Amino acid sequence: MGERAKPSPAEGGKKSSSPKGRPEGSRRLKIAAVVGTIIFVSFAHYHTDLHLHRVHAIYDRLYYLPIFAAALWFGLKGGLGASLGSSVLYAPHILFQWKLLPAQAPERYLEILLFNGVGCLTGLLAERASRQRELHLKASEKLAEAYRELQNTSSKLLLLEQRLRKAEKQFALGELSAMVAHEFMNPLGSIKGAAEILLDAFPPGHEKRAFLEILIREADRLERTARDILRFGREVRVVPVPCNPNRLVDTTLLLVWEEARRHRVEIRTRLSEAVREVLLDEDKIQQVLLNLVTNAIQSMPGGGIVTVRSQWTEVPAGAQESGRGEGVCIAVEDSGVGIAEEDLSLIFEAFYTTKPEGTGLGLSIVKRILDAHGGAVTVESALGRGSTFSIWLPAAPPCREARVA
Ligand SMILES: Nc1ncnc2c1ncn2[C@@H]1O[C@H](COP(=O)(O)OP(=O)(O)OP(=O)(O)O)[C@@H](O)[C@H]1O
Ligand SMILES: [Mg+2]
Repeated sequence: MGERAKPSPAEGGKKSSSPKGRPEGSRRLKIAAVVGTIIFVSFAHYHTDLHLHRVHAIYDRLYYLPIFAAALWFGLKGGLGASLGSSVLYAPHILFQWKLLPAQAPERYLEILLFNGVGCLTGLLAERASRQRELHLKASEKLAEAYRELQNTSSKLLLLEQRLRKAEKQFALGELSAMVAHEFMNPLGSIKGAAEILLDAFPPGHEKRAFLEILIREADRLERTARDILRFGREVRVVPVPCNPNRLVDTTLLLVWEEARRHRVEIRTRLSEAVREVLLDEDKIQQVLLNLVTNAIQSMPGGGIVTVRSQWTEVPAGAQESGRGEGVCIAVEDSGVGIAEEDLSLIFEAFYTTKPEGTGLGLSIVKRILDAHGGAVTVESALGRGSTFSIWLPAAPPCREARVA
């Protein structure tokens, strides 16, 4: 039992108290104190007059001090060593100085037995206490680790809860906005209709005609926004049909040509001949392209170039759900203001916008439509240098519905 290289009982089994780790100086000092005391007590026995019985009786008890100390410091080994040492030095004193055999003075020999009994018992108890201290230490380390894990988990839970709250808020906001937008549509139609009738009453050049034109333009803009919000609240049903993506890009760009010209933006196309037909919902993907190209135009207030590229490629993992691995990538590249790295994770969130007149729904609709096609949208951007939004569509999307909210 005492043979294991185990920590000193007196030092509680801490790592630093193992025989190797314990400062060697302190260990030697303890051994010297134990051995010195035993020798000193024995020396006193041998050199004290034999008639001084009481003094000898006191010396007998003094042996217990080094025995206790050795047991507490070094466990069973220490206790037994000190008690045996005491016995070996004490026995000749009884036998040769007192000249007493066990039968003549059994109490003295019993004392020797007691030395060893006490050394053994104290050593065992000290070792047991040391082992228990070790166990407590290990348990408290485990507890501390469990506490750290608990803290980690609870901070993750907090984060999830925050996200959930945000999602709930967005959902509620989406529902509310859709309701409000719906209520706006009819009055807006009436306002616009009335303004158009009034327009006939004011011939071109009339000073009040410009006000009516502003009224019609703003009613148009509000109607567009309300329609966007309404669309956002509805489900997107993807009806995939075979379609040549290059042709879709060409027809879509015709719709924004005029707006691009007004903003002094040139639109260039680099469409790969290798692009094949894919199954997609033309209206939805047209909406995606319109949103991306409009954003690109708006990101260049002083004009610039928008390049639309297409390429037949491997659809990246995550976007690829058809299992075929191939598909089309359409990239819309601008040389506009770019997007700060910390904003990249926000731009696809509903209602996130940096534009005074934006609704912040464009990119979130783009993402939902691509999700519904089993595709993906990615973005690369550098502040002041421009952005490239790429959409990835697998050759054959899974048929499913996606809710754009
Ligand atoms: N090409 C781009 N260059 C720079 N920033 C962009 C680009 N595209 C999107 N963004 C940023 O992402 C934000 C969100 O775009 P999103 O299309 O969702 O909404 P929006 O354009 O602001 O409003 P709308 O609902 O009218 O489209 C924009 O406000 C803008 O800050
Ligand atoms: Mg937009």
